[in-house]
Amino acid sequence: MNVTKIRKDFPVLNREVNGRPLVYFDNAATSQTPTQVINTIVDYYENYNANIHRGVHALSQEATDAYEGARQKIQKHFNAAHPYEVIFTSGTTHAINIISSGYAELLKEGDELIVSALEHHSNIVPWQMLCQKTGALLKVIPMNEDGVLIMDAYDELLSDRTKLVFVNHVSNALGTVNPIEEIINKAHAVGAEVLIDGAQASPHIKADVQALNVDYYVTSAHKICGPTGIGVLYGKEAALNRLPPYQGGGEMIAEVTFEKTTYADLPHKFEAGTPNIAGGIAFGAALDYVNAIGMENIAKYEAELLTYATLALKQIPGLKVYGVAPEKTAVISFNVEGIHPYDIGSILDKLGIAVRTGHHCAQPIMDFYKIPGTVRASFSFYNTFQEIDAMVDAVKKAVQMLQ
Ligand code: ALA
Repeated sequence: MNVTKIRKDFPVLNREVNGRPLVYFDNAATSQTPTQVINTIVDYYENYNANIHRGVHALSQEATDAYEGARQKIQKHFNAAHPYEVIFTSGTTHAINIISSGYAELLKEGDELIVSALEHHSNIVPWQMLCQKTGALLKVIPMNEDGVLIMDAYDELLSDRTKLVFVNHVSNALGTVNPIEEIINKAHAVGAEVLIDGAQASPHIKADVQALNVDYYVTSAHKICGPTGIGVLYGKEAALNRLPPYQGGGEMIAEVTFEKTTYADLPHKFEAGTPNIAGGIAFGAALDYVNAIGMENIAKYEAELLTYATLALKQIPGLKVYGVAPEKTAVISFNVEGIHPYDIGSILDKLGIAVRTGHHCAQPIMDFYKIPGTVRASFSFYNTFQEIDAMVDAVKKAVQMLQ
C-alpha cells in the first residue's frame, strides 16, 4: 500500500487546523472522502441530475442506471444473493429502525430480544421503544473488563422465547470484533433471527452475508469513504418479505386506490420517496475505491497502526486503554488518571489533532467502566505512523499541562 499516494486522493488531509497540519483520528465517527467519490457526486449534479425509476427521458434513465449499478456494487461487495436484498437507507440508524418498527407486528408479549452490552445507542433505543410497544423483553449479553462479550452468558439467555438477536460486528467505542458467526449460529439454533450492525466493521472487514448466513446486516456509507446520509439494509429475501413497509409514499406501491393499496416488491417496498440518489451512486464509488486498494491490505496496515499506537500510548504514566480484546479494529479508547477526556481532546484539537471524546453514544459501556467517557483515536488506511507520533507527543504535552 502506498500511503503517500493514497493521501493525495483526500484533499482535506492537506489542510491545517489551528496552524498545524490536520491529524484526523476521528474515522470511527466519519471517514474522509476521496476525490474519486466527490467527483461522482459533482458529475451527477452537473450532468444527469434527475429522479430515478420515474421518467422516460434520458437523464432519468442515466440516473436510474447509475443508482441501480451502485446497488449491484453493494450486492457484490457484501455477497448478497440478489440486488433486491439491498435496501438503500439514510444510514445504519434508519436501517435498524426499519427492522425494529416492522418487528412490532411480529412480536407478542413475553417474546424476548437479545442485545449486547457493547452496543451503540442506535442499536439499543429502537428496541427499547419496540419493547414498550409490544411487551417483549430485552436481555443483554454482558461484557468483561477486556471489552469482550461473555458468550457463556449468551448461551444462557437463548431460548425458544428469543425472536431476534442484534449485535454489532465491531464496537464503536472499543473496537472489539464480536464473534458474530457464533452469535448467528446459536441464535438460529433456537429459531431466532439475527441483525448485525456493521457500521464500524465495514471500513475494516468485508462481511460476506451469505457465508455468515445473517438475516440482516446494516451499515453506513460515510464510515467507508462515502458521503453521509446514505446507508444500506441487507436482508434475506424471506426475512424482508415478512416485514411490513416502514414508510408509505411514492415508489413503494404496486397499486393505489382510495379503497386499498398494494405494495411494491423488494427493494422498493422499503424505499418510499425520492432517495439520496447522488449518495447512493457515491456509495458505489466508495466501494470501488476501497476495493481497488484491497480490504485485506487496509486491515493489515491498520492493524500495524493500532499496535504501534497502543505500545506508544501505554508508555505514558497513568494512561489506561479501555477495550483490549484479542481481535480489535484500529480504535483506541483511553483515559489518563485524574484528567477528564474532554480536556485532553481540547488540547489535542488546539494542536491540530482530531479525536472524539465522551461516551461515544455507548453510555452503558462507560457505565460498566464507571467513567464519564474516553478519548477515542480511530485510524484509517490514510493515516501514518508519523501522525501517531504527533498524537502521542500531544497527549504527553496535555498531561504535563493538566496534571
Ligand atoms: N457512531 C459514530 C461514532 O462512534 C458517530 O463516533
